[in-house]
Amino acid sequence: MASLSSLPGNRFNAGLGSPVAAASAFSAALSSAPLGAAPVASAPLAASVTDALGRVPIVRLNRLHPSCNQHDLYLKLESCNPGGSIKEKNAAYLVHQAEQSGQLRPGGTIVESSSGNFGIGLAIVGATRGYRVLIVIDAKTSPTIRRMLQAYGAELVEVPLEAADAHGSMQVARMQRAQELERTLPGAWYPAQHTNPQNVEAHSLWTAQEIAAAFPTGPDAIVVGVSTAGQLTGISRYFKQHSPKTRIIGVDVAGSAILGTPRHAYKMTGLGLSFIPPNYDPQVLDAAYSVSDALAFSVCHALAQREGMLLGASTGAIVAAALADVQRFTQPQTYLLLNPDRGDRYLETVYDADWLKQHHLTILQDQDLVQAINHLQPVPLDLVRRAAQ
Ligand SMILES: Cc1ncc(COP(=O)(O)O)c(C=O)c1O
Repeated sequence: MASLSSLPGNRFNAGLGSPVAAASAFSAALSSAPLGAAPVASAPLAASVTDALGRVPIVRLNRLHPSCNQHDLYLKLESCNPGGSIKEKNAAYLVHQAEQSGQLRPGGTIVESSSGNFGIGLAIVGATRGYRVLIVIDAKTSPTIRRMLQAYGAELVEVPLEAADAHGSMQVARMQRAQELERTLPGAWYPAQHTNPQNVEAHSLWTAQEIAAAFPTGPDAIVVGVSTAGQLTGISRYFKQHSPKTRIIGVDVAGSAILGTPRHAYKMTGLGLSFIPPNYDPQVLDAAYSVSDALAFSVCHALAQREGMLLGASTGAIVAAALADVQRFTQPQTYLLLNPDRGDRYLETVYDADWLKQHHLTILQDQDLVQAINHLQPVPLDLVRRAAQ
């Protein structure tokens, strides 16, 4: 078998473990060229698709809510990564680390439990490196995500509905299945995004430093969704050290276990977990918000119709929380919001009128939406901290 260094895709070794290249692509200058003006510079040439990760636009919100007139809310469009989500960055980082440590060898198999984005990230990296990729999905996984995974050459392993826990979650069953596959398949490696501390490292090295490069004096707050807590812990680890004034605001979906709010089923994918993830530390949170499916999806529709951005379900929750939080300040604030993924993978759910009706979800508009955002309250931090004990 060829050694790793002689594999054709190996030039991307430079990109897989080198976040600095991504960060250096940013400029702190605010660009607002006239509509239709040609871009000033082209993006750098990339040696492979994984070398193109991380160089994403950061875009101001202008029309979604009256607070956009008073405060600068910027959305970091991780949806502009080549596969459409932030999870390609930690997928690339974890694969690189596993290759370095010898856990993943040429011809090996990557096995993971994913509701979509991390699986797609691994499928992309697997495709560029010649690995077999097995993704454990469940009944909640949409047809689009299934087709996307398969289009990248990944194989699907489905956990049956009967494996759901009392709250309808299949996350634990999926992780057990992935573990079992790693044990039984020769050459298999399970990155275990839910428990792997390198997931956190990836976001300290990439995402946090990309934000720092764009905001040299640090934003007033960073608003981030929580599931595995890779983003939350990785970003906060960097900013607590380099810009302690930057508040860290965590966002979860109502019904999830992470923030200690009442458990119930939810339709959101991407956010939420049925257990407290090992990489999560509630002490890093300066505020936390639990956002309902209906409010999150309503904000998604408003982002498309008032800001021209068709984004994923969790982005609606993150933007709702940011808009609720920023209203506590009379002085103009600069917030950086993480947009984890693109909206086209939610066309048959969040953006489908029949699906919304079938699940009794009403999309709020105009003043009703503004009111709902204004009424959103943070989850008390003592509750958040108790829940994680
Ligand atoms: C769409 C989406 N939003 C938010 C998150 C939360 O990110 P993390 O797992 O880093 O906590 C995820 C993670 O799966 C996601 O897929």
